[in-house]
Amino acid sequence: MPERAISPKAMTEDDIALDRSLRPQNLAEYIGQAAVKERLEIYIRAASERGEPLDHVLISGPPGLGKTCLAHVISNELGSSMRTTSGPAIERPGDMVAILTNMDDKSVLFIDEIHRLNRSAEEALYPAMEDFLYDWVAGKGPSARTYRIRLPRFTLIGATTRAGLLPSPLRDRFGISIRLDFYAPEELYQVVRRSAGILRIEIDEEGAREISLRSRGTPRVANRLLKRLRDYAQVRASGAIDIGVARSGLEMLDIDSRGLDAMDRRMLEVIIVNYGGGPVGVETLSAAVGEESETIEDVYEPYLMQVGFLQRTSRGRMATAMAYSHLGLRGPAEQVKLL
Ligand SMILES: Nc1ncnc2c1ncn2[C@@H]1O[C@H](COP(=O)(O)OP(=O)(O)O)[C@@H](O)[C@H]1O
Ligand SMILES: [Mg+2]
Repeated sequence: MPERAISPKAMTEDDIALDRSLRPQNLAEYIGQAAVKERLEIYIRAASERGEPLDHVLISGPPGLGKTCLAHVISNELGSSMRTTSGPAIERPGDMVAILTNMDDKSVLFIDEIHRLNRSAEEALYPAMEDFLYDWVAGKGPSARTYRIRLPRFTLIGATTRAGLLPSPLRDRFGISIRLDFYAPEELYQVVRRSAGILRIEIDEEGAREISLRSRGTPRVANRLLKRLRDYAQVRASGAIDIGVARSGLEMLDIDSRGLDAMDRRMLEVIIVNYGGGPVGVETLSAAVGEESETIEDVYEPYLMQVGFLQRTSRGRMATAMAYSHLGLRGPAEQVKLL
């Protein structure tokens, strides 16, 4: 897959280092998501005052919106240590028991991509989440014996791009469920200013506003564009990012006025030109644009739907009238009139 300047997924070492250096440490530093922060503040305070572990938390939302950050923030606010793992990393039931029995009381276990846990790991989690118990089955057949192991009272934080893929017994065991939404331009503006401060990048207000409008509502994208534009500013201008540098730099990266890149536009074009505006099934779309259907569903569609360019219907994906006009293509209504 070609590297996308605006890919919301962290893929390279560089991305991961950038994520880490810019990660907010507490709720006050965590920008936007006001309703989420308000709820969390109450739950964290209430649990702390009662001396209890925080209820398990499920965080869902598209890549790059701050799920991992939020897990760190919650654990910092609780003043507890956090252990991080991910769904695909837990292969055997033994992996799960090793992790769970090594937790401390009131510490946090963060499982990223929790929708990718295998079945047995998932089932081991149920009694662990509910009663802090682990059922260890020793031996096989008629001589098998089950031992109950009492676990520390921990808080599980799960992150997923697809809450819908979690089996409901797992989903139901999270007392707190948080859905992160795309950020408003004003919030992304604050993200850009904050990151520019940390990375000592010179940028003026208009430059920062331009980035915030073209970052797909996604903080990780905003941070990445900021870094790319710094390079551009250094080589092609005086080093500072202003509106002119931002516009020409973004044009060079092939990112349009709404933050769409070549792949976003290609998807819309395929729907409109090859399939008369849709509906098109996601598998067909995937074959036509050469991108995995999972990536289409997790990464491209949420934003295209958010900006009103794409609709998901039971029969497939459809391009909206706004998509036609954004791409400068004649809409289906006008085509009818021409006949
Ligand atoms: N609310 C926020 N405030 C400030 N920066 C944020 C926020 N959310 C995300 N970021 C930035 O975006 C980057 C990606 O966030 P991350 O938590 O890794 O996303 P996710 O886990 O959802 O893919 C972080 O390193 C951070 O720099
Ligand atoms: Mg993450």
